[in-house]
Amino acid sequence: MKIVIKDNLKEQKCDVLVINLFEGEKTSQDLANQYAIEEDHFKGKFKETYLLQTYEKIPARKILVVGMGKKEDLTLDKIREIGAKITNKVNSIKAKSVAVDFVNVEEYKGALVEGLLIGDYKFNKYKSEKKDDEDEKETEVMLNIEENVLTRAELTISAMETARNMANEPAAGMTPSKPAEIAQSLNLNTKVYSGYEIEEMNMGAFYAVSKGSSEDPKFIHITYAPKDAKKKIAIIGKGITFDSGGLNIKPASSMLTMRDDMSAAACVIGIMSKLKELNAQIEVHGIIAACENMPGCSAYKQGDVLTARNGKTIEVDNTDAEGRLTLADALCYACELEVDEVIDIATLTGACMVALGTQAAGIFGNDQDLIDRLIKSADEAGERYWQLPMYKEYGDGLKSDMADMKNSGGRWGGASSAAIFLQNFVKEGQKWAHIDIAGTAFLDSAQKYFIKGATGSGVRALINYILKG
Ligand code: BES
Ligand code: MN
Ligand code: ZN
Repeated sequence: MKIVIKDNLKEQKCDVLVINLFEGEKTSQDLANQYAIEEDHFKGKFKETYLLQTYEKIPARKILVVGMGKKEDLTLDKIREIGAKITNKVNSIKAKSVAVDFVNVEEYKGALVEGLLIGDYKFNKYKSEKKDDEDEKETEVMLNIEENVLTRAELTISAMETARNMANEPAAGMTPSKPAEIAQSLNLNTKVYSGYEIEEMNMGAFYAVSKGSSEDPKFIHITYAPKDAKKKIAIIGKGITFDSGGLNIKPASSMLTMRDDMSAAACVIGIMSKLKELNAQIEVHGIIAACENMPGCSAYKQGDVLTARNGKTIEVDNTDAEGRLTLADALCYACELEVDEVIDIATLTGACMVALGTQAAGIFGNDQDLIDRLIKSADEAGERYWQLPMYKEYGDGLKSDMADMKNSGGRWGGASSAAIFLQNFVKEGQKWAHIDIAGTAFLDSAQKYFIKGATGSGVRALINYILKG
């Protein structure tokens, strides 16, 4: 789908002219009134649509009327849903040229474009039989929108697409060297460290997780540094390219979609790939500790004691609590960069998914202002972050007789005890937030404007956050 800026949309010759109608309003679109309300009792309810032939009374061959719901109920995210609905409708009737002429939505146009583009996402690369519409020419959508608003929406959704493609990719093709390769192709300053170097960097926790796999682990550090940066941040993304659970092997049904355990790493790469074009004004360090969690014959074991980069020791209670071990070393590394804020994002705990479902990511941290600004950035961008507590008692279960701590605090409050674990690797005085996207990164069935599979969780929220400066 290609979006082009045009005005006089009603005069354009095209397959479909898409117009909007608010529920209970009679004057928002003359055409809509004429055709839809009088002829077929179309009420303009949210996401209701009505398609009609124009018989050459106007240049467009068809009109698609889209219900907006009540004007006072409209939100940015509802208009994203409407955008995706339009795309689905237009694709299903194989329209190749479309004019979207919406009224009374000026401040919602960026979100409308986001919805149109999100709705167009598919992951068909492994289908041998291509659907017949795929080799045909790209659909062109005409829209009256300011160029900078359009560009920002396009770049954001393109970053999301990169992230979704990476997370949807089977683990066989998305081994740790793959994100490393993609990171190095970004035209930014990227450093990649492999197996023995990771050991030499004293990343004993991360290295241990990688040992059960024949795939070499990769530690990836991507830097975007604009001139006169107002602020510096680091974003760490969990990059377990497949989580079998290790020796604490997962049951088959829990393992089924564990290729998604690098969704956060994919999110970081998606974001980093567009910062130049987005003209971001702050310095951003993208950090990924990528490896597989496998039960191979050199796998780390329960009862092992690992030493992280900051010297703290960890007793392995459960090899399936591997993400926090990789993040521990990544957090130590990020805190050495002297950035203003460290944000980690991870498909970290099933407990977070149980608590919040697929509707919201959990957020934790040591700085309320940072957390609040992240929640707001997410909300504006169409994501939801919900703060969960970090009472110090959540750390009780992490106590170890042998080492400084254990890597698992048991089932109850598992999202919070994981956050407490991570905090052990955040330098004193470092502002830090942790986002648990276990529930939001990957869907078992279609939801809102998403098809099933990877959602690109975190991309829109963090791009919005970064662009605020
Ligand atoms: N990658 C999983 C968390 C996860 C679960 C992500 C469901 C996406 C969907 C993580 O590594 C894990 O296995 N966590 C364990 C921790 C436990 C052993 C303390 C969990 O949540 O069960
Ligand atoms: Mn795990
Ligand atoms: Zn995991």
